[in-house]
Amino acid sequence: ADSVVKIAVSGAAGNIGYALIPLLASGYVFGDRPVELRLLEIPHALKALAGIRMELIDCAFPCLTDVICTTDPREAFENVDVIVLVGGFPRKQGMERKDLIEANTKIFTTMGRAINDVASTNVKVLVVANPANTNCLVALTEAASIPSKNFCALTYLDHQRAKAQVAIQLGVSTNRIKNVTIWGNHSNSQFPDALTDGYYLQDDGEKVPLASLLAHDLDWATADFVTTVQERGKHVIEVRGASSALSAAQASADCIKTWLVTGTQDGETVSMAVYNDEGYYGVQKGLVFSFPCECKDGDWYVKTGLSLSEFAMEKLVITEKELMEEREAAKDLLSKSARIRGYS
Ligand code: NAI
Repeated sequence: ADSVVKIAVSGAAGNIGYALIPLLASGYVFGDRPVELRLLEIPHALKALAGIRMELIDCAFPCLTDVICTTDPREAFENVDVIVLVGGFPRKQGMERKDLIEANTKIFTTMGRAINDVASTNVKVLVVANPANTNCLVALTEAASIPSKNFCALTYLDHQRAKAQVAIQLGVSTNRIKNVTIWGNHSNSQFPDALTDGYYLQDDGEKVPLASLLAHDLDWATADFVTTVQERGKHVIEVRGASSALSAAQASADCIKTWLVTGTQDGETVSMAVYNDEGYYGVQKGLVFSFPCECKDGDWYVKTGLSLSEFAMEKLVITEKELMEEREAAKDLLSKSARIRGYS
């Protein structure tokens, strides 16, 4: 029989958690492998979490072996295979980005240290909570005993948003649109890029570059498309009255599935924000930056060798600058040992 996959989810009683947990427990991500869930929350949400646990029992998922609810990150992370960090301090009205970074750096310092102390060195960690890239950087810096390759931050939702916008513009179905890329930060500064590597997959398998399909529509591809994707999250909040949760949960599940279960199809990439230890595409080392990634056997690989236009390079520099500022704002709040390791 397959071994049990143990998955920890922080912020499990929140909006995204509520939509994500069934995708993990139902077999959508891990097929018919048995699943154990460790649900982590802060004390005030523990009662709601107990209610979710009741509902999970009532779903009678055939693969779900156990659901553990806890407020202790160490209990949640010990010996798990996958950690999804959704819990964070939300942006309140009037709050500066700096304050948001400060509140979340404290949380992610704690998460990173707990991962360092009790998780297996093979654990894979997906960071969803905002500011996602910098939270991920903080966690992996604090978790020095775990390879940085085992971490990523979620830009898969932005990737899917970009695919969907291109598909609507061309009047085709979304699953034909491949290799759009989200570069940089999961924020308004990101660069959604359809033209560098994007293609339309025909019935016969031929790949038609989006740069040629959108040749008469370059104004759209370099302006409206970019801002629509950058501001999609904000727009959903305006219309729904709450932050994207269903789509964020779906993207989180699909990111984990692609990264750890199926891998990417031949020649295809997805967007993942990963630790840039190589200086890919001239981007400063030591940032968690979203790149086009191929996934195979549970690892991601940044696709290299793409030739970026001058326009694209300018956009990369903007989002790189924001990430450097975020890193600077987080720096002083890291534990001393992490500062020495990561910022000497
Ligand atoms: P939510 O506020 O509904 O849920 C967050 C949950 O985290 C709450 O239940 C809260 O009690 C819990 N929490 C707070 N601090 C915690 C801690 N230290 N340990 C464990 N749990 C903790 O928020 P929602 O809508 O579920 O969003 C979660 C996060 O995901 C937010 O930071 C949001 O900005 C981010 N997000 C990221 C997206 C992405 O594409 N990367 C897309 C959409 C949202």
